[in-house]
Amino acid sequence: MVAIAKLREAKPPLSAARIADDDFERMRRENLARWPTGALVDMDEAVAYHRALPRHKQLAWVMRKADAEGRCLTQPRGGFGTLELQLELMRELDTGGMADIVPTTTDSYTRNEQWASAERGAEESRKAGRSMLNGFPMVNYGPKETRRLIEAIDKPAIVLSGTSFPKLTSEVGYAAGFTGYLGSGLAYTVSYTKETSLEEGIRNYQYLDRLAAFYASKGVELHRRQPGFLTGTNIPPSVAIITCIIDALLAAGQGVKNYGLELGQTLHLVQDAAAIKMCRVLVQEYLAKFGFGDVFTPITSLHWMGAWPHDEAQASALIVYGGTLAAVGGAVSITTKSTHEAFGIPTPKANAEGLRMTRMAIYLARNLKLDSMPEFQRECDLIRREVVPVVDKVLEMGDGDAAVGTIRAAEAGVLDIPWSPNRWVKSRVMPARDADGYLRILSPGDMPIPRDVLEVHEAGLRRRAEAEGIPYGDDLAVGSVFELSEPLAHLMPTLTRQP
Ligand code: 5AD
Repeated sequence: MVAIAKLREAKPPLSAARIADDDFERMRRENLARWPTGALVDMDEAVAYHRALPRHKQLAWVMRKADAEGRCLTQPRGGFGTLELQLELMRELDTGGMADIVPTTTDSYTRNEQWASAERGAEESRKAGRSMLNGFPMVNYGPKETRRLIEAIDKPAIVLSGTSFPKLTSEVGYAAGFTGYLGSGLAYTVSYTKETSLEEGIRNYQYLDRLAAFYASKGVELHRRQPGFLTGTNIPPSVAIITCIIDALLAAGQGVKNYGLELGQTLHLVQDAAAIKMCRVLVQEYLAKFGFGDVFTPITSLHWMGAWPHDEAQASALIVYGGTLAAVGGAVSITTKSTHEAFGIPTPKANAEGLRMTRMAIYLARNLKLDSMPEFQRECDLIRREVVPVVDKVLEMGDGDAAVGTIRAAEAGVLDIPWSPNRWVKSRVMPARDADGYLRILSPGDMPIPRDVLEVHEAGLRRRAEAEGIPYGDDLAVGSVFELSEPLAHLMPTLTRQP
């Protein structure tokens, strides 16, 4: 008997195929039983609520509209430990910051499914009258109370989860009336976890993507989004785009039709514009190859994800320039930071200011585009020549299955991420900034990036080594990690070296 029960529980082997209806029903039952508020998730009620939401509060619709109109929307991050504080924050971001999309970041306990600890954190926050958590404990509040956040604003709201374990926050968040959820199996697992296997991360997100498709089957189109965050440290566009393609294939496999992709800014005008363009092009090409012809894949540009300067004036420059980069690059939205980034979680006021600075920059960029610039074309071409051999190899290693290929390719180092904390990722690929400010690949590790492409990277990096009088090697990579958080006085000599 025990053996039979075990057999029933056994998971089907990992694959990119859609989770079967009855399996999904069983998975949902088990998932929702893990914390008392799970029982409050009522799918029929949630569907009715979403269907009655005005379109301008539905992120899927708002993203499609912005894309059609060529607009760049602004969205901050933000989460506090109690409902009252979160209400106040979201109102400030909506009206004071003029955010187009209003966020709720969950706290670290919630991200790691430690709901008892999150409960204590919320309790302590209530007692202290200030947030003792680094985000909102959504599961503890449950779908009904959390819905008050949606009612308090007149914009679409997105859950920013920062987790490899999205199964309960997504159920609660979508049932509450959030219309977007940020996170993905590959990107977040390589960024945020050490011991969690890529297989587990992928399976957890297949659940969420299947949930989004389930809502769609009931007439509710929700927005899903891949977090381009990765490890935050100088991710070359090709590496980010490779993960975008894989995560998009996995989401489409579960039936998702509205899937945003994020890219961290390199802070190079040409490289960022090329990345935004090629991400969308290449994701669409691979989706089409697998027969997923009707998936909407808007790109979101992220304000610098590396280390920030402490000086508020310097930070302001990164914020404004980031707005320019997103607008010129043609991103459909930008996720913003504030001048408090180097210190910790921003006050609602500073957060709203970051939004307004960014908006002004977007406005000033007007319709500027780089498409006819030779350097832009060269970067687009370079990105394609880096991405395609790697993704093709990943798919080949999985015998055409993106999930299986991901596991095998990561194990072999064919799929690799710089500075990942995850022990299932080799992290042998090493990026650095070159003499012209492009993020390049100093060493590809075992990624199958063609020799002629690497020669282009090497030439720029050698020029920088020469100009700065440092040996060609890892020092170039380490220096690039801290470069932009340096005080202005340290950066100035670089400026005077320009011919
Ligand atoms: N409020 C505002 N921003 C947050 N971030 C993380 N948690 C919060 C929060 N509670 C932002 C920080 C960080 C990025 C990953 O998310 O800017 O760098």
